[in-house]
Amino acid sequence: METNAKKPTLFSGIKPSGTLTLGSYLGAISNWTRYIDDYNSILCIVDLHTITVRIPPAELRRNSLTQLAYYIACGIDPEKCVLFIQSHVPAHAELAWVLDCYTMFGELSRMTQFKDKSAKNADNINAGLFTYPVLMAADILLYNTDIVPVGDDQRQHVEICRDIATRFNNICGETFRLPTAVLPKVAARVMSLSDPTSKMSKSETGDQSGCIFLTDSKDDIVRKFRRAVTDSEASVYYDEENKKGISNLMSIYSSITGSSFDQIANDFAGKGYGDFKLAVAEAVCDRLMPIQEKANALLSDKAYLEQVYSEGAARASALARRTLDKVYRKVGFVAKPRMGRMPEAGK
Ligand code: TRP
Repeated sequence: METNAKKPTLFSGIKPSGTLTLGSYLGAISNWTRYIDDYNSILCIVDLHTITVRIPPAELRRNSLTQLAYYIACGIDPEKCVLFIQSHVPAHAELAWVLDCYTMFGELSRMTQFKDKSAKNADNINAGLFTYPVLMAADILLYNTDIVPVGDDQRQHVEICRDIATRFNNICGETFRLPTAVLPKVAARVMSLSDPTSKMSKSETGDQSGCIFLTDSKDDIVRKFRRAVTDSEASVYYDEENKKGISNLMSIYSSITGSSFDQIANDFAGKGYGDFKLAVAEAVCDRLMPIQEKANALLSDKAYLEQVYSEGAARASALARRTLDKVYRKVGFVAKPRMGRMPEAGK
């Protein structure tokens, strides 16, 4: 893709910390595909963020490639966007360091994700977990991003990104464009099927009966929806306060079929929860099965995947380098010598 100066820019990414879930698909990926023709889209597999929580190296490598295949299978056409792996573009880590120096200890301490994650990983509250939002700000700001399509839980991260950018601009002069988070109208926050008060999350350890993975078999999907926790009223209508389980299922169904909540309530009036759960499961299977098939085919073509992420890294590096050079100039670093003029080692 040639980046087109007239189109606004979109940046987003997901951590390859596990298998992609229906939550990431509805909350993020399917939203990216809606924008891909009208935005310079820069989509990332954010592996640097992933190591803030311990993960076996072989698993991280496998997840990253699987995630790339799934991005493409979900309709992210690498011809239409810049698709890359974060660790391949060193400017992300480099800008993150500079931005660390423009981010306050206090504001990072107040981030809800940091508080949650440190409670869950009490034995590994590392500095990366703390500065995580700064690296995310670097991701976004490197590309003069206009919009960041993410799920609801990332809203605070985009807010702090704007705060950091504003502070830098005030101190060093106008440098960064301020990005806006865009959330999908429905299903910005898909909840666990087994506990509709908490997010459907791949990184939760233990019980996974409430989480639909993009790799799940049809049988698993049907079984998980059939067992979804609901309420005792047996009437399908949207009430996020009192009917969290049913409202979550309605959001999923609405996001996939395009039906409004009223329409769904009408269509399932007089029918039991069993019928509705099955209809949701079917809609999800109809959407996911072709994606799985395509992803599996892609995963057996490693050479193609390598070509995609290599081209992505080259394009992303060129764009990111421009911003990083500008930032380095603004903070007062001496311009980098051209590599050709560097003295040879040992002389
Ligand atoms: N923090 C995001 C998440 O957990 C992942 C992420 C990292 C991201 N960098 C980003 C999302 C930049 C959007 C833009 O889902």
